[in-house]
Amino acid sequence: MKTKLFYLISLITCSVVAQNSLLIPPVLSGTDFQLNLQNGQFEFFGGHNTATMGVNGNILGPTLIMNTGESVNIHVTNNLGQPTTIHWHGMHISAANDGGPHTVIQPGTTWHPQFTVLNRASTVWYHPHLDEYTDEHVSKGIAGMIIIHDTHELNSGLPIDYGVDDFPLVVQTKEFDSNYQILNHTNHDDVLMVNATINPFLEVPAQIVRLRLLNGSSQRVFNFGFDNNRTFYQIATDGGLLDMPQAMNRLPLSPGERAEILIDLNNMQGQTLYLMSYASELGNGIFGSAAPGMNPNMPLNNYNPNALNGTDFTILQLNVTAPTSNPVTTIPNSFEPIPPLLENNANQHRDFLLRPVSMGFNQLNGDFTINGVSFDMNTINVTIPLNNTEVWTITNNSAISHPFHVHDIVFQILSINGNSNIPDYAKGWQDTFLVPAGGGSIKIIAKFEDFSDDTIPYMYHCHMLNHEDGGMMGAFTVVDTSNHIIDLKSEQAVVYPNPVQTVYATIQLQNPDEMITAYTIIDELGKIVAHHKVHTNELSNLYSFPVFELANGNYTIKIYTDRQIIIKSFIKN
Ligand code: C2O
Ligand code: CU
Ligand code: CU
Repeated sequence: MKTKLFYLISLITCSVVAQNSLLIPPVLSGTDFQLNLQNGQFEFFGGHNTATMGVNGNILGPTLIMNTGESVNIHVTNNLGQPTTIHWHGMHISAANDGGPHTVIQPGTTWHPQFTVLNRASTVWYHPHLDEYTDEHVSKGIAGMIIIHDTHELNSGLPIDYGVDDFPLVVQTKEFDSNYQILNHTNHDDVLMVNATINPFLEVPAQIVRLRLLNGSSQRVFNFGFDNNRTFYQIATDGGLLDMPQAMNRLPLSPGERAEILIDLNNMQGQTLYLMSYASELGNGIFGSAAPGMNPNMPLNNYNPNALNGTDFTILQLNVTAPTSNPVTTIPNSFEPIPPLLENNANQHRDFLLRPVSMGFNQLNGDFTINGVSFDMNTINVTIPLNNTEVWTITNNSAISHPFHVHDIVFQILSINGNSNIPDYAKGWQDTFLVPAGGGSIKIIAKFEDFSDDTIPYMYHCHMLNHEDGGMMGAFTVVDTSNHIIDLKSEQAVVYPNPVQTVYATIQLQNPDEMITAYTIIDELGKIVAHHKVHTNELSNLYSFPVFELANGNYTIKIYTDRQIIIKSFIKN
């Protein structure tokens, strides 16, 4: 067992009054963004250097400010000396721009995503997503916020002045070893930080102040609230503004989730308040409660001791200063209505079952599965027709709650544990939501529109990064079946014999001047079973490809030519 820093830290928090001024990440705005992923050193603890990873700096990344409708160019240069990816968590963009595990940025290279911002005004974020290395790269420091503005939001009377009345709060817990170095794939995350600042304070003006909360922790759920049970107003979930501000005094957020809240500090100059996590109120089965595991007397292995588990702790001290010259002093009454997606309009229902490979006291540590299988880079688990509205029921057969995240879309929650009477904080657009432990479930609805790609998948996964890296992730493609039907009837190519029983089959293009450059064979489950590039001295309108290794069944073949992609099907029997 490693020596724990935790005892040292609790001594510091108890005996030293001095606090650290909250770091506010710098802003990049406009339509061209240069992001440089780099290794660095950061002094979390006075006098001690910690090895970190950051974007354009030693820790975290700049806040990117974008506007709905603009098209943006991003250059991500990887100077980490090892492969990684950058995923835009919460952005509705094509799979090729999404930055999932299939879009690796090799060391020394630059990735150049380009897209139009389609999201409504919201708080989203970016982080690495390399298969099995997400936790390491995020824990070491790569994470940044993206603030999206739109005209409705800019005209709604909300605070929008970054770092003045509108603050980013990246809330994380990490574990350090006795040499002050960050560990990953661990459950002993006992050091709390906001924007990489331990024990932080922030000066806020005596007016309406907007806080953008991001739970950027690898595993821990926070139960946000203020001291003295102060009322605050949630205005946004993952996917942007609610239809109206919701007054509340507790707001749980699981890893990956965001929320925007307003606090009313009118006439409070000179006072101090505390943003807290009331983790003592978290139910059993939640990472952050006294004991995950359904029975408080039977905590899971490697969970305790941890000073943050099941206790109420301060996240950020807020010192109220003089109001600004043009303060926002009232909370808007309402925003745009959110049109409900109706279960009756769904084209498809699907079920997902979250489970560790081995149950029992070791289940915090994986491996993990969804529908009985662990993540595989070469498997597409689900194929979704473009423009489908789908209802997904996610069931959790384990003693710990898992935050379920879906790329590409935002969803609405239809029910939690079968109950359609859901809490206020769950009533907006989400891209991540906690699935209760012990056989609990959530039912969600979403529309998969705008983007399709036959081969590059999006991900759905548990956003506890240890679980994601440990296999609790699946891949889905969104495919444009209307194109396929046309393509399948395409007269521009034939595949013969069909059905095929021989060792080879042949592709022939009708145009004798067109050349076959590559082909991909996809089975009925959407799995790519063969991909071959035609050698330059074999380029022709005719190509014979081997089929003897294919199991009997129906296949789709994607034929790449020097001028187009043609999709055909054939049967092997
Ligand atoms: Cu924030 Cu697939 O992740
Ligand atoms: Cu994501
Ligand atoms: Cu999980």
